[in-house]
Amino acid sequence: IPVDRFDLVIFGATGDLARRKILPGLFRRFVAGQMTPDSRIIGSARSPLGAEGWRSMIREAIHEFGPAESGDRIDAFLGCLDYVTVDATGDGGWADLKALLREGAVRAFYFSVAPSLFGPLAERLRQHGIAGADSRIVVEKPFGRDLESARALNRTLSEHFGEGQIYRIDHYLGKETVQNLMAVRFGNLLFEPLWNNHYIDHIQITVAETVGVGGRGEYYDKSGAMRDMVQNHLMQLLCLIAMEPPSRFEADAVRDEKLKVIRALRPVPAHHIVRGQYDASDSSPSYREEVGNPRSFTESFIALRVEIANWRWAGVPFYLRTGKKLRARHSEIAVVFKDLGHTIFEGDERRHRNILSIRLQPNEGIDLTVTIKEPGQGGMRLVDVPLDMTFAQALGKEAASVPDAYERLIMDVIRGNQTLFMRGDEVEAAWAWTDPLIAGWEARHDVPKLYDQGSSGPDDALMLLHREGRRWRDIR
Ligand code: BG6
Repeated sequence: IPVDRFDLVIFGATGDLARRKILPGLFRRFVAGQMTPDSRIIGSARSPLGAEGWRSMIREAIHEFGPAESGDRIDAFLGCLDYVTVDATGDGGWADLKALLREGAVRAFYFSVAPSLFGPLAERLRQHGIAGADSRIVVEKPFGRDLESARALNRTLSEHFGEGQIYRIDHYLGKETVQNLMAVRFGNLLFEPLWNNHYIDHIQITVAETVGVGGRGEYYDKSGAMRDMVQNHLMQLLCLIAMEPPSRFEADAVRDEKLKVIRALRPVPAHHIVRGQYDASDSSPSYREEVGNPRSFTESFIALRVEIANWRWAGVPFYLRTGKKLRARHSEIAVVFKDLGHTIFEGDERRHRNILSIRLQPNEGIDLTVTIKEPGQGGMRLVDVPLDMTFAQALGKEAASVPDAYERLIMDVIRGNQTLFMRGDEVEAAWAWTDPLIAGWEARHDVPKLYDQGSSGPDDALMLLHREGRRWRDIR
């Protein structure tokens, strides 16, 4: 279904995110017919690039990061693009920008810039009468680096825009399987009765990456895995898996429930946190070499044992881990159900457990491990098999046609749907939980454990589960 005609202004139009994700994503929505040709994307940055200069930059970006088959639609798409040079902290260019915008089109402003520019941009959009009461702004992470800075950002934005106009992106919420998780949880009778501490033994959330910090060393070394991944992406996944059923699938109903989960998180004791840093391998540098800081104590890996203090989850550990330069790119949420209390099958010594596995990437999908009889004559032998609950084949949808997280979220901005965006209080609550953990290891001068590139992280992370008689799912 096409969205309404829009004017989308992208600040930071020559940056990495715009070239890698935002524009290639919009191009795919254009090809899919969701973005109509009377919509416009206005790039904006400090450089005096001009419309033609920006169009050729985006043409290259689409070749590099866009769909393999761009066909002849590129020219039509580029025809929707315009560019204006503005000075985010001065007066230059704002009148030109204003002159480009049309009455009657949905108006959205994407702040793909450093957070220090959020305030100046918001102020100028208002001052020059460019953004009105129904305009929307989109802001990227990092949304602060602690509670204090996040509060300051929220305060600054709220001086110029209402909460209903602010779209804080966490691109994990735009991933196909993350939404499917909600469909499976709340669209079936089967799961909700079992979704509690009576039936669930524990939950694992893994976001493993093979890439290192690459060219982002300067930013990353000041953040680490906790700020870069846990405070936002893993926290959002945790919320969706643990929240109470919202009364409606609607922005505030969902976000109210997520907020309650964050507020119910217990402080995490030091022995439930394992931080790691990747070592050098034969062919590639160590974390410290890569970020150019030989004394860095920043973690490129973290594993935590987290508890939610409420009736549903009391006693159920949530194990979270994420890291760079690990064995495989593998993101999964695994809901591990309890053992059967009693088996009627004599001689079957193995432990059979139902596991609901929600794979975010690669091979997106959801499956449920169930126990059945092994076919054949050998008596009653049991075997565990995955029951595919994705049905991508049954629905006839190829994985390639699933929109990428960014394109889905941008279309939601145009539709005015905030369900998959973080509310200000959620972000603050997440920092309020994160801050003391970071302060704790800083005060202890905790040194991250070294781990081999291509491994599953430091051995201590394995111990986090082993000592409780559990084991991590394989990263493969
Ligand atoms: C970003 C982090 O938010 O998410 C990166 O800053 C990380 O460090 C990335 O690599 C992972 O996203 P995805 O979609 O590739 O899993």
